[in-house]
Amino acid sequence: MRKKIVAGNWKMNLLPAEALNLYREIVDKKSDDSDVEIMVFPPSLFVSDLIKFKADVSVGVQNFFPEEKGAYTGEISVAQVASMGVHYTLVGHSERRMYFGEDDRLLKRKVDAALKFNLTPVFCCGEPLEIREKNEQGSFVHEQLENSLFHLSSEDLKKCIIAYEPVWAIGTGKTASFEQAEEMHSSIRSWIAKKYDSETAESISILYGGSCNATNAKELFACKNVDGGLIGGASLDADSFITIAQSF
Ligand code: PGA
Repeated sequence: MRKKIVAGNWKMNLLPAEALNLYREIVDKKSDDSDVEIMVFPPSLFVSDLIKFKADVSVGVQNFFPEEKGAYTGEISVAQVASMGVHYTLVGHSERRMYFGEDDRLLKRKVDAALKFNLTPVFCCGEPLEIREKNEQGSFVHEQLENSLFHLSSEDLKKCIIAYEPVWAIGTGKTASFEQAEEMHSSIRSWIAKKYDSETAESISILYGGSCNATNAKELFACKNVDGGLIGGASLDADSFITIAQSF
């Protein structure tokens, strides 16, 4: 069953007290009877504090290293993340690909390591502007999925969430139109149906990300194949974030 999900990617923002306040505000303002799952991805430093609330706003990590332990100075292992009680992780965010050189091979290892430790990967894919301008976004995103995600069994793929985030829309205030979002989301679903089967395709939540905000969320979430959003900037304000979560 496709779940409705609204996820906040806090990126490298907030100091500890600000992160706690934001989380508390989201928990307080969230409606109890909603069928939308809300999750946040704070900087890893704050994760254990937020998890202590045991609130029904899930806390995930933005990153981890796909080994259990070892000489990887500065990294946090998949086992360490899982042991904190985390259930979700971003994988393949365009900022990790762009600024930290994460390639499809590493992302495949991350997907496998996450699943091995019962973490749900929110696998991010999406094309840069020059690819969109050449109208090659379909094959570009397809290749990202083929290289890092579609090696999974149907059973494991069903444990994943996919986020389509056109790079040109991230943090730019320039969101994809609902037609552009729906076109890509329905393509992703049909590739899954073709490679696996329609039951698998119908069970995976596909989120849209890229300048999604309290004003445009309704139109995006109304699309047949859009199951929610991965929200950056607008997730740093509890009111905007909750408005987005109520936009179905
Ligand atoms: P944005 O970021 O909403 O600020 O565009 C989205 C993301 O990077 O996940």
